[in-house]
Amino acid sequence: MIGEPRLHEPECESTQKLLVDRADDLPEGAVATTDHQTAGRGRLGREWEDAPGTSVLVSVLLRPPPERAAPELSLVTAAATAEAVEAATTLSAQIKWPNDVMLNRRKVAGILAEMHGDAVVIGIGVNVNQNVAQLPAHARTPAGSLRSLTGSDYDREALLARILERLSTRYAAWRTGGLDAVFDEIGSRNFLFARAIRIGDVSGVGGSIQRDGRLEIVTGHDSHVLVESGEVEFVR
Ligand code: BTN
Repeated sequence: MIGEPRLHEPECESTQKLLVDRADDLPEGAVATTDHQTAGRGRLGREWEDAPGTSVLVSVLLRPPPERAAPELSLVTAAATAEAVEAATTLSAQIKWPNDVMLNRRKVAGILAEMHGDAVVIGIGVNVNQNVAQLPAHARTPAGSLRSLTGSDYDREALLARILERLSTRYAAWRTGGLDAVFDEIGSRNFLFARAIRIGDVSGVGGSIQRDGRLEIVTGHDSHVLVESGEVEFVR
């Protein structure tokens, strides 16, 4: 079960750092949480900012079996987070490939996977109770919080518990069956499907997420490319 032991600091640089620094001494499933990060890490070297006491900020230590493709864990975690956000809000949550969770066309959660030897530290940041003024105004993907999108406040501990419970189930399935075993949860939540998108210099229309985790981009009447990773801009 993911969630034990739990290291909690009221404030820290980054929960990723808390776990990475102790990764060699901790078992699989250990988590680190905080109420505020002073140097939160996002993907591609970006920062992840939070207003104190408003977010779910958690990192999870996993030791995937060598036969599994560890990068798939971003999608698995995004699926678990989407399920938990959907259960809390009763709004349909999507995955913006490969690792964002979207609600009403706004990014409410981001996932960051960092390798540490044979361990993977997966960070999850969910915007929960921020008001509009507390959200980044000029993010590449427009940001939202559960509160800004629904008008309600949420119990962050209850949401954390739900995320970890969903992740425990999905991770166990992935360990034994790979991405195929969690694919239903991923393929059906594809935010980019049928949207005009661009990844690097490839432009087209978002197609399906493949069973190996790649994203299809339809580039012409009879042509498509499959991309393994990258920063997706969606146009509309
Ligand atoms: C992204 O969308 O760029 C990924 C953001 C990941 C943020 C989380 S918050 C908990 C964990 N600690 C960090 O420093 N980053 C991740």
